[in-house]
Amino acid sequence: MKKVIVEVCAGTRCTISGSMDIVANIENLLSTYDEEGKPMYDIEVRNVPCQHDCEKDGSLAPVVIVNGEKIVCASSDQVMNRISELRD
Ligand code: FES
Repeated sequence: MKKVIVEVCAGTRCTISGSMDIVANIENLLSTYDEEGKPMYDIEVRNVPCQHDCEKDGSLAPVVIVNGEKIVCASSDQVMNRISELRD
């Protein structure tokens, strides 16, 4: 299992667009365990300031960066899928 670093924009527009809901879903992953009782994910979640993608034409919020890869207009499903791909 590889560590996954998830940086979630905590700027105003991203927060309004649901970035903290994505954080809550990631935190739920942190409490999932396999049959042997070992954690299924090694994730570090960081809040980061505005990434300025919200200022472009048609806001790209919420913005989430997973292991350095930026996801714009991020949904929880997209972020969860990317975390699952990267942890294997
Ligand atoms: S508030 Fe998130 S990119 Fe600006």
